[in-house]
Amino acid sequence: MEYGTRVGRGFTLWFTGLSGAGKTTIAEIVEKELRQRFGKVEVLDGDIVRTNLSKGLGFSREDRDTNVLRIGFVADLLTRNGVAVIVSAISPFKEVRDQVRRNIGEDFVEIFVDAPLEVCAERDVKGLYKKAFSGEIPQFTGVSDPYEPPVAPELHIKTDEETAQESARRVVSYLEEYGYLEPVEALNRA
Ligand code: ADX
Repeated sequence: MEYGTRVGRGFTLWFTGLSGAGKTTIAEIVEKELRQRFGKVEVLDGDIVRTNLSKGLGFSREDRDTNVLRIGFVADLLTRNGVAVIVSAISPFKEVRDQVRRNIGEDFVEIFVDAPLEVCAERDVKGLYKKAFSGEIPQFTGVSDPYEPPVAPELHIKTDEETAQESARRVVSYLEEYGYLEPVEALNRA
């Protein structure tokens, strides 16, 4: 694929991983850069989607799958209309992630935001792991509910080994390499 051949095409960056792995942090950095360099950007974050589009859904497998399919549906519509879509959702089940991948097709970029459970629990940004370990929150991903890691993600980011800036740069480089973004040598290459 030559540089620039997909410039202007929409795409979906799908960040999947445990709560606290760093999905939203990396997504926010990428969002900022894409707003400057791409233009039309929409963010679908699990925590926010659950206050509107997925309001009322819980954390059973069925509800999580419904949540992920709804996000995938919107992401597909936007992608087809030339928008840069950024999704951050735990999306723990492979089958339904793959379903979204099939719907969106080649413009789907799965990004596995990987950090060991101990690291996420240690960070405990929202104080939820403490509650999950004590049993106060049941069915908590990684603690008392499964997380099925992607088998062949387009990008595999280990957030305990690199900074969020470095991770975001890898995402942007991927988009340049696959022709979605014109490479800008000087931008954010301090
Ligand atoms: S998903 O499984 O349906 O993809 P989603 O990303 O939308 O999850 O929402 C996850 C967020 O919900 C977490 O970041 C956390 O703040 C909150 N949460 C509340 N209960 C749970 C739970 N049982 N498991 C995971 N996350 C939970």
